[in-house]
Amino acid sequence: MSTYLATDRLTLRPFTADEADLLIELDSDPAVMRFLSGGEPTPPEIVREGHLPSILAGYERWDGRFGLFAARETESGAFVGWFCLRPERDGPLDEVELGYRLRQDAWGKGYATEVAAALVDKAFSELDVQVVWGATMSLNRASQKVMEKVDMTVTETLATPDDMLAVEGSELGGFRYEITKEQWEGRQVGSR
Ligand SMILES: CC(C)(COP(=O)(O)OP(=O)(O)OC[C@H]1O[C@@H](n2cnc3c(N)ncnc32)[C@H](O)[C@@H]1OP(=O)(O)O)[C@@H](O)C(=O)NCCC(=O)NCCS
Repeated sequence: MSTYLATDRLTLRPFTADEADLLIELDSDPAVMRFLSGGEPTPPEIVREGHLPSILAGYERWDGRFGLFAARETESGAFVGWFCLRPERDGPLDEVELGYRLRQDAWGKGYATEVAAALVDKAFSELDVQVVWGATMSLNRASQKVMEKVDMTVTETLATPDDMLAVEGSELGGFRYEITKEQWEGRQVGSR
């Protein structure tokens, strides 16, 4: 199957129609879901009938350029979670959201930072992207640190969406982070 991205330790590939169980298991860990649903697992039928079909449709819609991809350790083949780089459904193709959700046993190894950095580079160098953005709850320090480590900065504070009011710290809202192509190019020059 086609590789979307390979980093030092991880390989990202499209999900296949028979991989719903990977997503169901990932979303069944309350620690993983803490800042997404308040710890509630995603019901398996929502994954099977909603999330996975929409992930698969995204590969068609964006012709494999963008989407939500399964990440595995290259050496062991173990599934560690997913990353996404994708426009909003009917939004401009040059503004894409960076997202990630990893199994708890994969946390703390630098995996999110490793892949996020490579996705930001790919977005600006290969995919004609102008802005990479991400959104996170105020209390989700791990997610914020990943974005900060790839030079994204806070551009906006966000109100908590209605469907996330059960999440711990929802009264504190969240942050939108961004990096523009211009900032990314400036960073490339500055780091030489
Ligand atoms: C967010 C997430 C992907 C981070 O994955 P990860 O691979 O553990 O992240 P990294 O190892 O690359 O760590 C990035 C930085 O965050 C720090 N960090 C990790 N977890 C942290 C935590 N709970 N609190 C504070 N900092 C944390 C790391 O120490 C590292 O910073 P450092 O290099 O300065 O030490 C992972 O925690 C996750 O999947 N969480 C559940 C889903 C989720 O919340 N997704 C984001 C929704 S917006």
